[in-house]
Amino acid sequence: MTPTDVFAPAKINLTLHITGQRDDGYHLLDSLVVFAPVGDVLRLVPAAELSLSLEGPEAAGLPADGDNLALRAAAMVGDGQGAAIALEKLLPVASGIGGGSADAAATARAMLAAAGALDEGGLARAGTALLALGADVPMCLASRPVRVRGIGERLEPVNLPPLPAVLVNPRVPVSTPRIFRSLTARDNPPMPEPLPEFPDAEVLIAWLKDMRNDMEPAASALEPMIGVVLGELAALPGCRLARMSGSGATCFGLFATMADAGAAAAALRVARPDWWIAEGLLGDQQARAMPRLG
Ligand code: C5P
Repeated sequence: MTPTDVFAPAKINLTLHITGQRDDGYHLLDSLVVFAPVGDVLRLVPAAELSLSLEGPEAAGLPADGDNLALRAAAMVGDGQGAAIALEKLLPVASGIGGGSADAAATARAMLAAAGALDEGGLARAGTALLALGADVPMCLASRPVRVRGIGERLEPVNLPPLPAVLVNPRVPVSTPRIFRSLTARDNPPMPEPLPEFPDAEVLIAWLKDMRNDMEPAASALEPMIGVVLGELAALPGCRLARMSGSGATCFGLFATMADAGAAAAALRVARPDWWIAEGLLGDQQARAMPRLG
């Protein structure tokens, strides 16, 4: 293995419909997922054994031991390879945008690449195994726009126009299981099948307005700051849609242009200097090999 830098992009649920619950308690989803140009950065250097060091503004409080998902992913797919992994944590933890799952998936990609196994078969085996680390890991392995069903293991690539966006986290960590437990409805309608064509961002945003994040009401009730974020995003000039990602607390605002998104992010940084705020085009990744899970 040569030293490798890998990017672990934030995942954003443009929609998140909760359509049922399995006998084991896991919830069935129907979600349109894209990735952002902001994320964590990992450097893997050849070493005799696996190890992990943490740095970056969001690293505080994160385990660097065997509980860390990046380390667990490396052990699961690494086939005995050692690596010194340096994780630069730039995404807020427990925030609905992938975080640990994104780190696990990026580490797995790097380990597979080092083993010459970053192909459809390698990704498929890794995705199936790594689902045990978190339901978001397979979609993060894909790291391109996908429709996600099942509990997170059924992935279909989708073609979406890139969306100018502002991401905001008010720095309140949210427990995903707690939000799932407090849902009052678990059998909500899925998205249409098939999805319509989205020729441009305007058409996509208009369609997204009729879709939902079914975790948003429960999360806002448990963590009122989420409602504050959504209100402030929606009030920014040019914001076309404000919604929560995952189980929160990160929310996104969609804009017609990157100039509008940049101006909105700059204004919000002045008003809310303590919040984590990022802007960029969502869903702008080049097509990548898809992990087809068995
Ligand atoms: O998979 P992940 O570790 O992110 O999920 C955390 C918890 O959220 C799970 O242990 C489960 O309680 C809940 N969950 C769920 N349905 C999903 C994904 C997660 O109920 N599809």
